Amino acid sequence: MISKKMEKSLNEQINKELFSAYYYLSMAAYLQNSNLDGMAHFMKHQAEEETGHAMKMYSYINEQGGRVILDAIEKPRTDFDSPQQIFELGLAHEKHVTASIHALVTLAIEEKDYATKTFLDWFVSEQVEEEATMDSIVSKFKLIGNAGQALLMMDAQLAKRGE
Ligand code: FEO
Repeated sequence: MISKKMEKSLNEQINKELFSAYYYLSMAAYLQNSNLDGMAHFMKHQAEEETGHAMKMYSYINEQGGRVILDAIEKPRTDFDSPQQIFELGLAHEKHVTASIHALVTLAIEEKDYATKTFLDWFVSEQVEEEATMDSIVSKFKLIGNAGQALLMMDAQLAKRGE
């Protein structure tokens, strides 16, 4: 069993993960419209992963006898200045998600809820990976810029995600 407070916090995290999916899908749509299919593929893949994160939380709440309550998902941003900005926003967003996962871990420890703490360990590792992935892409953009040829190179590279 999980506490009511933990149930509410995990439900809030489901909303954040679903918003993440929506946000990345909005980025994918923008990139697709800019004919950067590889980058759009990367972001669609990311959006699917975020839905997967939400579903992990959904299953866990149910396994623990809690109740999933879905809330409205915030409207994502739809316009961006450049592909580099999109990945910078992605990195900033992942840092924000990491902070909220860490807050959940802190709550689990405070409540001596070791089952939830163990469940959340996977998310802690996942966030390290997600931040590292975004950070590496942002670093590459900083090296090569947003000019035509550089963009096409990045597009080809990011098309490979999930292969
Ligand atoms: Fe589910 Fe990218 O955090």
